[in-house]
Amino acid sequence: MKKDLLTLLDLTKADCDMLFQRAGILKERRRKGIRETLLSGKSLGLIFDKPSTRTRISFETAMIQMGGTPIFMSSKDTQISRNEPVMDTARVLSRYLDGLAIRTFSQDILEGFAAYADIPVINALTDMYHPTQVLSDILTIIEYKGGYEGVKIAWVGDGNNVSHSWINAAAVLGLNLVLACPEGYYPSAPILQRALDMETGNIRVTSNPVEAVDQADVIYTDVWASMGQESEHIARKNIFKAYQVNRELMQHARRDAIVMHCLPAHRGEEISEELMDVPLPVIWDQSENKMHMNKAILEALMAGSASGKRQEGEQPCLML
Ligand code: CP
Ligand code: NVA
Repeated sequence: MKKDLLTLLDLTKADCDMLFQRAGILKERRRKGIRETLLSGKSLGLIFDKPSTRTRISFETAMIQMGGTPIFMSSKDTQISRNEPVMDTARVLSRYLDGLAIRTFSQDILEGFAAYADIPVINALTDMYHPTQVLSDILTIIEYKGGYEGVKIAWVGDGNNVSHSWINAAAVLGLNLVLACPEGYYPSAPILQRALDMETGNIRVTSNPVEAVDQADVIYTDVWASMGQESEHIARKNIFKAYQVNRELMQHARRDAIVMHCLPAHRGEEISEELMDVPLPVIWDQSENKMHMNKAILEALMAGSASGKRQEGEQPCLML
């Protein structure tokens, strides 16, 4: 049966741990110059309704480096722009492709594709979630902190799509997550409640950034106005002023705390200019890790059938 990755709640802790391990192995193999062929003969379609630098290119390079082919489709150049129904598009593309990565506005559109496609559908960001981002971010946390257990993660800023995927991750993996957001900009209450009902992680929301960052190991931020909210940018700059991640706020975190940002950043808004340019390359490692994690995700969802060949002696990541 085909599997989709629409939200992190589609995964178990064992699935995630396998992805972290496999992405680490694939990263090391890339460093050693080992050629991968596990996705040879496979094609991934990428449908993007919003701009992207990292997610698009990291999926494309992941496919190429695994021996497969990415096919980028801007919605405006396909019949989707002329209102061909999602159900028809999904059925047709399933006849050509082995997987679909979709970046769009509503989670419902993504779910529509998943319902009618016979191939795996991957959420490459919606207004609601950004699951592949948070998987690669946790890989980065594992690299810097030796694991994610016992690590205090502070989210500072908007209760947006990326924060929702952090909440899901906290529920699936049992993370210690505190989110500091201005009142009125908290994460979605149903998403938060569902995670709290799972009674696994330690998840709290506050409007006080200092309280959230206190003794934190990881401070994570994202833009104050996400794609699609550009008209609110000026108003939000004022509302979120006290939520900038800067040296002053970092005084409250652990001495060895790391600052993370999914990028693109608005320097001088959600993150101070100086924190973007610290010598520790965490933020750039985050970007690189998207490619390694995407390889592990693509392999888990797409390898192992028809033309996908597993390499001798390799442990596949197929628990999903
Ligand atoms: N972090 C991230 O998803 O970046 P892009 O919008 O450039 O893909
Ligand atoms: N919250 C941001 C994330 C970009 C990767 C947005 O949706 O624009």
